[in-house]
Amino acid sequence: MSKMTVLAARQPAAIGSQVLIQGWVRTRRDSKGGFSFIEINDGSCMANLQIIADADLENYESEITRLTAGCSISVSGEIKESGGKQATEILAAKVEIHGWADPDEYPLQKKRHSFEKLREWAHLRPRTNTFGAVARVRNRICKSIHDFYQDRGFLYVHTPIITASDCEGAGEMFRVSTLDPANAPRNDEGGIDYTQDFFDRPSFLTVSGQLEAEIYATALGNVYTFGPTFRAENSNTSRHLAEFWMVEPEMAFCDLDGNMDLAEAFLKQIFSDVLEDCAEDMAFFNQHIDDTVLETLQGIVKSEFTRLSYSEAVDILIASEQKFDHQVEWGCDLQSEHERYLTEQHFSGPVILYDYPCTIKPFYMRVNDDGKTVRAMDVLVPKVGEIIGGSQREERLDVLEDRMRQQDLDPAEYWWYTDLRKYGTVPHAGFGLGLERTVQFVTGMQNIRDVIPFPRTPGSAEF
Ligand code: 4AD
Ligand code: MG
Repeated sequence: MSKMTVLAARQPAAIGSQVLIQGWVRTRRDSKGGFSFIEINDGSCMANLQIIADADLENYESEITRLTAGCSISVSGEIKESGGKQATEILAAKVEIHGWADPDEYPLQKKRHSFEKLREWAHLRPRTNTFGAVARVRNRICKSIHDFYQDRGFLYVHTPIITASDCEGAGEMFRVSTLDPANAPRNDEGGIDYTQDFFDRPSFLTVSGQLEAEIYATALGNVYTFGPTFRAENSNTSRHLAEFWMVEPEMAFCDLDGNMDLAEAFLKQIFSDVLEDCAEDMAFFNQHIDDTVLETLQGIVKSEFTRLSYSEAVDILIASEQKFDHQVEWGCDLQSEHERYLTEQHFSGPVILYDYPCTIKPFYMRVNDDGKTVRAMDVLVPKVGEIIGGSQREERLDVLEDRMRQQDLDPAEYWWYTDLRKYGTVPHAGFGLGLERTVQFVTGMQNIRDVIPFPRTPGSAEF
């Protein structure tokens, strides 16, 4: 008898096979005819498989009639055509119980729980329909990410998690240290002497793998890195995590237009893959979470992203005469209310903004001839806002060093990064896509804490 997933067992092709199904009970009810209907779910798909358990089974009275939500079981039997809504069901020859779930204690009974409540039960929430669907869609997106770059010949590089450099220059880094905080060695100035720390210098969790990806791109052409990144920004919003996953392609001999083209093709590939391969889960999100997600994704796959400069966007925002909490003027960083106005009201779709003021962007972005703006780009989408941030990189050594000094960075500390401009420098570009914001956008889930298995946010790191 071969093991089969619920997903496979639900296909008409499975009818007639003798199989073993293993999973968790969702519901059980008695039927008058002397048998029980049990719904089993194993996570392979949203839907359950119906089990017909006859009263003849030896453990029928002693065990099967006592099954409740959450119990784990193995069922063997034949897949039959079903008369009900589903195509198939399994007629049990044997039902083995592995673990009980006391109905007086098991929290996931029929009653619906809020997502806030379920965050307190992060160890149980993947057993719910919503979190199972999120996990499957997230997995599918990760496959798309690798497929997209591998199919285009990009090399997957692993950039470090622990680093001494602050790529975004925002000082939002988590320190990595083995010093005893209560008894740290001091230097002559009275500060902590990190030369005695594990790495002989101040070290942190990375905020981005970009700088190291540039090293590989300027040797091997097109590369991408994909891994966890960390930000100690104290923002308690529905779009920020302290630990999130980012995919960062980096391309040698590429300018900002090539970068925007790649970003647009990349997002469209992810969306069309999910629409094609996660149809059942996406139908669920469209029905229960956000009734616009299917239409939105289908529309985006077929249309062109609007591209406009930061300056043009500022003009539109000012001309809109909207009452924003933050007044818009040239030079300001755009807030999520502004991004939402552009994507939801003005353009009704994704927008790529480029050429931002140099004062609000990091040191590594290429300076435009106007001296005031840099070749930055952000991809904004309705509801979520910024989903991608990227740029063409500054490949001119003197300009790069000037930019570093302007931002109080010491070029000597980034000697390896400036070396890339000293030896065979090339125009190059790349971007970072936040995985969780992508999952949020695709599923319509409102809070970023509900699209990563174990969210890390200020004041919260349980599980
Ligand atoms: O715009 P960011 O900060 O860009 C970078 O880190 C560049 N070094 C990327 C590159 O050019 N290689 O971050 C990129 C994306 C954002 O657009 C957003 O989707 C996501 O990462 N992101 C976050 N996601 C969740 N929580 C946070 N705190 C995030 N910060 C950024
Ligand atoms: Mg950004």
